[in-house]
Amino acid sequence: MAEAQARQHGGNAGDDPAMAEGGVRFEVDGEIATITLDRPEKRNAQTFATWSALARIGETLPERVRVVVVKGEGPSFSAGIDLRMFTAEGVPGQGSFGSAAKSDGASFEQSIRRAQAGFLWLRRPEIVSIAAVQGHAIGAGFQLALACDLRIVADDVSFCMKEPALGLVPDLTGTKPLVELVGLAKAIDICLTARTVHADEAMRIGLAERVVAGGDLEQATREKVEQLLSTNRDAAAATKRLLQGAQGRTLEEQSRAEGIEQAARIKALFG
Ligand code: CAA
Repeated sequence: MAEAQARQHGGNAGDDPAMAEGGVRFEVDGEIATITLDRPEKRNAQTFATWSALARIGETLPERVRVVVVKGEGPSFSAGIDLRMFTAEGVPGQGSFGSAAKSDGASFEQSIRRAQAGFLWLRRPEIVSIAAVQGHAIGAGFQLALACDLRIVADDVSFCMKEPALGLVPDLTGTKPLVELVGLAKAIDICLTARTVHADEAMRIGLAERVVAGGDLEQATREKVEQLLSTNRDAAAATKRLLQGAQGRTLEEQSRAEGIEQAARIKALFG
């Protein structure tokens, strides 16, 4: 009932044909939004339409949403970019890398910027994004998981940054979170060998917050959502802003930032 109402009111893009073209489902239930990559028969391969759909969700996300869950239907979270992009025919209506190579560099860079918009918004301080990852998370799939704040993974997960093996670079906003999570040396190792990272290593090196049996992924994600919703909304956003800014600031600057955020909180709570 709550979900049906949420569909009727406020920003649910679930009925949007662009979502279907991108192979994406989107549902809002109160403070929780769920994005499902929904092309399991193609292992949730992603196209430019997928990235436009993700960007559109970010643009229209109802303000009440506090937690965004990103998941994949079927055995794999996502097998990465749709390999038809590497063929002469390309993806119908979306071209191919061959056609992109013939266009001027600036316009292709612009398409990449648009694609990245689908990943960037998942870091907004007002929300916490959780990737629930099972099976393969390859290339763009790995980067989508990296775009989320937290990763809860099934024990069959296999992360692989395949791009360098294909002559490409990871360009969907994944390189920064990867380095921040696992460190430069491990990120170089993972990307430049295009090797697979399985669940036990993912947990050990900080790629995953929690590993669960495949059948428990949904429940484990739900538990994390409930924990996240148990804190104060505005304090959570302010704290995330502080945490996100911490690495780029000196201790002195960070302390000042803490004071500014706290003064605003005290004013809101007791003023
Ligand atoms: N693009 C398009 N179709 C894909 C696909 C992809 N990335 N991955 C899988 N599929 C399709 C297969 O062609 C197959 O379709 P048909 O049934 O019509 O033949 C279907 O999905 C099922 O695939 P498999 O039978 O191979 O399924 P599997 O479970 O045995 O294996 C897999 C899964 C290991 C993911 C394997 O499909 C695979 O290796 N896929 C390719 C992965 C890949 O190289 N992705 C590119 C990453 S690089 C990237 O993402 C670059 C970027 O961002 C710029």
